[in-house]
Amino acid sequence: MPRHLLRIADLSREDAWKILHRAKELKDGGIRTKTMDGRTAILIFEKSSTRTRVSFEVAVRHLGGQTIFMTPVESQLGRSEPLKDTARCLSRYADCLVVRTYGQEKLETLVRFSSIPVVNALSDEHHPCQVLSDMLSMYERTSDLGSLRVAWIGDGNNMAHSFIDAAALFGFDLVLACPAGYDPDPAIVAQARERGARVTLTRNPEDAARDADYLNTDVWASMGQEGEQRERERVFAGFQVDDRLLSLAKPACKVMHCLPAHRGEEISEAVLEGPASIAFDQAENRLHMQKAVLEWVFGTI
Ligand code: CP
Ligand code: NVA
Repeated sequence: MPRHLLRIADLSREDAWKILHRAKELKDGGIRTKTMDGRTAILIFEKSSTRTRVSFEVAVRHLGGQTIFMTPVESQLGRSEPLKDTARCLSRYADCLVVRTYGQEKLETLVRFSSIPVVNALSDEHHPCQVLSDMLSMYERTSDLGSLRVAWIGDGNNMAHSFIDAAALFGFDLVLACPAGYDPDPAIVAQARERGARVTLTRNPEDAARDADYLNTDVWASMGQEGEQRERERVFAGFQVDDRLLSLAKPACKVMHCLPAHRGEEISEAVLEGPASIAFDQAENRLHMQKAVLEWVFGTI
């Protein structure tokens, strides 16, 4: 059976830590391997991407493999060829699918009909590779992740869901401040709590930010929600990570953002460009983490 990564909760605690340790080792040692020698990863991206696409393309090359990049525009995907047919054909050419799409159910269909691993490169519900690399960004600063208080300020979106999944595996306290109507999926919160996650929900960004080790945010309108931008700007006013919110956190607090950022909305220019921001370290870590994820998928770790 191929190994798939559709969400962080798919991982055992042991595998999650194995991937994290390996990513750090790959980064610290500047390691390139032959894990993907003679192997091809097909990247299917139904949404835009800068970091995820390029870090996966480079990661595959660092592992000795090759990539093919596909979008619906120039493939039969955009002409309604069923995913189950696409999955069965691509499985006969390549060794791995890295997929950015809308509903999680599309990834589940690909898994059902693929004989090769499927990796979620962002869906409406989850962004596991980003949040695993965010674990690396936290871990390389504090190895005792269980001692940390992480605040999520803003939308209970795909990133929030993957942080909730991660809280169950890596043991940090997670406090999410979301406006009414924009909470994370209660089923994801409940599952994580069953696995031991310490997850708290509040409507108050100040309560979340107080004594936090990390303040974390993301765009108010995710890809596919552009039509809700105006309404979301109204609802999320007061949920900006700015100097005032940062002043409530621990003095050494770091600010995380997966990027792309909308300055002046979910984060102020001063905070994003200021000394607390680790956004560009996070972006770098995508490369190291993608390599570890690919090694895990191919069973070499
Ligand atoms: N953070 C992230 O996934 O960025 P991209 O949309 O540029 O891939
Ligand atoms: N929540 C954002 C993340 C982008 C990397 C989105 O889905 O657009």
